[in-house]
Order: sequence, then structure tokens, then C-alpha cells
Amino acid sequence: MSRHFVLLSRTGRTDARFHSLREGGRLDIVYQCALFALFRAHGHRKDTVFTACLAGPPRPPLAMSISGSHLRNVRIDERTWESALREVLSQKPYPGFSVSRQSFQDVVRTAGEVYVLHEGGEPIENIPIGNDPCFVLGDHVGLPKKDEAFALRFGKKVSLGKNRSYLASFCISAIQYILDKREDATEGTEGPVGTGLSKDALRGTESPSKGKGPGRSTRLTSPSTSFGKTKSL
Ligand SMILES: C[S@@+](CC[C@H](N)C(=O)[O-])C[C@H]1O[C@@H](n2cnc3c(N)ncnc32)[C@H](O)[C@@H]1O
Repeated sequence: MSRHFVLLSRTGRTDARFHSLREGGRLDIVYQCALFALFRAHGHRKDTVFTACLAGPPRPPLAMSISGSHLRNVRIDERTWESALREVLSQKPYPGFSVSRQSFQDVVRTAGEVYVLHEGGEPIENIPIGNDPCFVLGDHVGLPKKDEAFALRFGKKVSLGKNRSYLASFCISAIQYILDKREDATEGTEGPVGTGLSKDALRGTESPSKGKGPGRSTRLTSPSTSFGKTKSL
């Protein structure tokens, strides 16, 4: 199973000229989302890719992807991430990071199985999620209507709670938790076609004894771009 999170950062700077992540067009939100997408308490998730679609000045668009399976030498503190983002946005290589001149539309178009996160979507509890999901989120302002409509051509709208607006980073954390739980529950059993879920797991009636024992290994399908070095811009 591979997991992909796509954040549209409408103001995120596309160069390294910023005093702090926050002043870099809210790159602090990019950092927080990357953190919750890619890290657990003791190490990072090799099954996850996080992409920030940066649409801020001076030269948008820029898609910055971070692959958990290629990430090296990154701690979780903001200072470390600020310097990593500075390197990458200065077109220098950084393990696990890659950048391309792709727009939000370009990224979503090739993302496969898309779930657009929105308060007004279908409750996630009712939704079977396949093996290679891509979750699309808006920044602090939310996803513009036209971008939401575009993403919905490739998937459906999913909610973590009606009338409850959460931080994008929290949404990512909650999704990772839900996927972890579902993965534990399925433990090698085949569910309804294409869902990766057992019927019991979907109904929430999985036997508590299932999912115990050694964890099922997860595998990330090879990313199409090299994450070992930054592509020239
Ligand atoms: C801080 S919220 C943006 C809130 C903004 N007021 C809006 O209208 O979208 C950032 C993103 O988190 C996601 N999000 C927030 N709350 C959510 C919820 N209850 N269910 C699903 N996604 C949510 C959405 O993708 C949203 O664009």
C-alpha cells in the first residue's frame, strides 16, 4: 500500500527568499503537513509520499514531493525543516525531496485514486479506501472551488466531520491513523474488490483478535521521479 497526500499551498514561496517558514507564504503549514504525513514517534513512514503544490511567488507552479522511503537525515524540528526547504527551493539536492514545474492540476491528474478532504464530504467511516489512495487538502484558507471541482473529476469528497474545520496537518494525522487501523484489521485478508478492506472491517465488526502479531509489511510502488536528488527547475 502506498499513501499520497497533496497539499495545495496557494501562497507558499517558490524560492528560498524568506525569513521564516511562516513568512515564506505559510510554508510552516507545508512543514507541519509533511511532518504528520511522514513521521511516527520513532522513525518515518516509508509507505508515504507528501507533495506540496506551491503556488506563491516568484515562479509558480512548483510541486515539491517528499518520499518517506528516500528520506534521510531529517529530524522533526522546524529549524531542520526550514534549512531543508531552503536547500530544495534553492535547487540544491536533498535526499527524499524532488521538485518539478508541475501544477496542482498536473499532480492530481496523475495521482490515481483521489479523495478530496472537505468538511461537507461523505463521512470517511463509510468509505472503502483502496491500496494507493491520494488525499487532497487545502491550505489555511481552504481549497478554491475551481481546484476542488478539478480534483473531484478524479475522485470523491471525504469528510472527517461535518461543521468541524480542522488544521490540514491534523487531517493528515487522522487519515494516517485511520489507514493504520484499517491495515491492521485486514491483516492479509482480501476485502471487497479494490478496497483493501474486509467486510467486517468496513462494518467495524472485525474480531479483536485479528490484526495481532507481526505487522504486515507495506510497500511503496516505485515513484516515477527520482527522490535522491533535486531536479533542475
Ligand atoms: C484549515 S482547513 C481550511 C479551512 C477553510 N475554512 C475551508 O473552508 O476550507 C485546511 C484543509 O483541511 C481539510 N479539512 C479541514 N477540516 C476538515 C474536515 N472536517 N473534513 C475533511 N477535511 C477537512 C480541508 O481539505 C481544508 O481545505
